[in-house]
Amino acid sequence: VTQRPDDFDLNHHGDLEVGHGLVDLAVNVRAGTPPGWLVEEIGASLGDLAAYPRQDAALAAVAARHHRDPSQILLTAGAAEAFVLIARAFRPRHPVVVHPQFTEPEAALRSAGHLVDRVILGPETGFALDPRAVPADADLVVIGNPTNPTSVLHSADELRELARPDRILVVDEAFMDAVPGEPESLVGASIPGLVVVRSLTKTWGLAGLRVGYVVAAPGLIEQLAAVQSQWPVSTPALAAAIACSNERAVAEAAAAAAELDRQRAHLLAGLTCADAVSTYGVARGPFVLVHVAGAAVLREQLRERGFAVRRGDTFPGLGPDWLRIAVRPEPVTDAFLKVWQDALG
Ligand SMILES: Cc1ncc(COP(=O)(O)O)c(C=O)c1O
Repeated sequence: VTQRPDDFDLNHHGDLEVGHGLVDLAVNVRAGTPPGWLVEEIGASLGDLAAYPRQDAALAAVAARHHRDPSQILLTAGAAEAFVLIARAFRPRHPVVVHPQFTEPEAALRSAGHLVDRVILGPETGFALDPRAVPADADLVVIGNPTNPTSVLHSADELRELARPDRILVVDEAFMDAVPGEPESLVGASIPGLVVVRSLTKTWGLAGLRVGYVVAAPGLIEQLAAVQSQWPVSTPALAAAIACSNERAVAEAAAAAAELDRQRAHLLAGLTCADAVSTYGVARGPFVLVHVAGAAVLREQLRERGFAVRRGDTFPGLGPDWLRIAVRPEPVTDAFLKVWQDALG
């Protein structure tokens, strides 16, 4: 565990690396989204914009999707808002973030004035979680599953080992719907102190709409809601939450997750045929993390040739020789791999 100053740019995200006509392998939003039927559902809600948003139907839909009660759901403006609410609502003495992971939870905790500790998982163990590495007195723990950027999926049993009666355990499941069958999800678990964060922006291509939710015990939901603004989720975002929660949508997400597994295997096979490139752990998310000496120069070469991949050096626990690459349909991956292999020489 290390108590570190801000030597990593926690505010850097993949969206800063795209644009300029580049093919985007830096942002982990699923390609070809949002689907037409979803755009229609969102569009149909625009006639109601004069009214303040009402959440009842969306809460019921999300609760039904996860077999929970609506009192166990908090709708948010993306998973990102959930981290701000967590940082505002709770007063931990010893918050711990398990890295490498998405940096917003730590950024939100810090900006709310918390002194944050880090547990760093290493490549030598495949970024596997060792629950014993988390200090016993940590009263708020944040971990991603599957984790961005390592793509590693921790087992639900290991995560359960992190739970304590006097601890808030935040599991960021923003990418869980990209894992076929969601086998390690804790969204249906009843564990004291558990706060599960979910996003609808990745699988459904709604990053610009901002929609996600928290699943937790009613008492925790009340604490989070108490620090949220009035009408935090817009009417179109509520329409999206309803539309993405029905059986047809869940089945479509599951099919996309299975397809993603195939696309990721194709990407990994092409990336790692070069000796210089290594991967650690088993990738289960819609992106892969690779180690390659000289990654900073390679990233620039890829940009010059039309492809944006995400730098790894802004993630605590990683450094300049890491890159995160989004899984894309095979034709995009093939075009990318050609440039990748050329650049590696
Ligand atoms: C692991 C993880 N959690 C949460 C988020 C934020 O998601 P949202 O768009 O729902 O705020 C991201 C975005 O990149 C992420 O990578």
